[in-house]
Amino acid sequence: MKKVGIIGVGEYLPDRILTNAHLEKMVDTSDEWITTRTGIKERHIAAAGQAASDLGVLAAQQALHNAKMKAEDLELIVVATITGDMPFPSTAAIIQDKLGAKKAVCFDISAACAGFVYGISIAQQFISNGTYKNALVIGTEVLSSVTDWKDRNTCVLFGDGAGAAVLAEVPKGGIISTYLGCDGSKVGILNMPGGGSRNPATHATVDNRMHFLKMEGNELFKIAVNTMTRAAETVLKQANMTFADIDLIIPHQANSRIIMAVAKKLGIPEERVYLNIERCGNMSSASMVTALCEAVLEGKVKRGDTVLLDVFGAGLVWGACIIEW
Ligand code: ACO
Repeated sequence: MKKVGIIGVGEYLPDRILTNAHLEKMVDTSDEWITTRTGIKERHIAAAGQAASDLGVLAAQQALHNAKMKAEDLELIVVATITGDMPFPSTAAIIQDKLGAKKAVCFDISAACAGFVYGISIAQQFISNGTYKNALVIGTEVLSSVTDWKDRNTCVLFGDGAGAAVLAEVPKGGIISTYLGCDGSKVGILNMPGGGSRNPATHATVDNRMHFLKMEGNELFKIAVNTMTRAAETVLKQANMTFADIDLIIPHQANSRIIMAVAKKLGIPEERVYLNIERCGNMSSASMVTALCEAVLEGKVKRGDTVLLDVFGAGLVWGACIIEW
């Protein structure tokens, strides 16, 4: 089997910034509550008319540039998103056209906040078994389009953005181990009930605010801490490694208290945990890949370093991945 690694990363965050001070004017909340309960200070919000493919294509162009690869040479595009441009066709197909990646096979995956780790795992299989030479994996979300701006329990948490990674065969290192999981019995604690075949759009679904994300935050908090801890431990065991072998952990950016609780359980010092939640909030599938991109561009992940990605999201789904950079 061929070794597969990430050879270029990119991100795009919309220009408009929504601060906690702005949110204080929209719902009954405070900067103090949001900061202490979540670690979030501000988040980026897409402009009117800006869809997931618009964000994703800009992140993809930066990743291709950093990978020194032309779009026309791409063989596979996987887009992880829960806020695609339309229910069908795939946002990956729309991005293929915008990039001019005519050769690429394209599809979307729905794995919420775990989408990027699910995506690179899929891409890795295709490259390591020789089906395709390379792949572009994008996490892109316009969560502002499914956020209920009247619900203080959720609207303070989310933001918009996109990140992208180009994968190809590498001579050494690359993806060392991946672990994925799902517990479908917990669909009810985080979902968007309206707009699918269960509750197609009607006046009643709109009136009942069913086209917005619904979440039982408190319940999720506890599950997230335990699941992310277990995912990190499992992937390390699979790889026959310990935390001493890991230079940087990049966790899903849902809540800084979840992240620090996981780090404490795992016995990892804060300086080895990467955070961008303060500036970006939770961007679901885009969170992991933008955090990875920023860590690389800031020099916090250097050639030869070993990073552990640890994700969790609606489904419930989870995953972890160890990469030698
Ligand atoms: N401002 C002020 N007060 C608020 C706000 C707000 N924005 N939101 C809730 N409160 C209030 C509640 O009404 C409650 O008041 P009450 O005690 O009078 O009833 C109080 O604050 C405490 O509420 P809790 O829900 O217990 O607050 P908690 O400390 O659990 O924090 C939070 C809530 C931030 C949502 C947290 O539970 C969390 O981060 N959960 C996990 C989210 C997550 O992991 N999502 C998964 C991924 S997302 C994806 O896949 C798309």
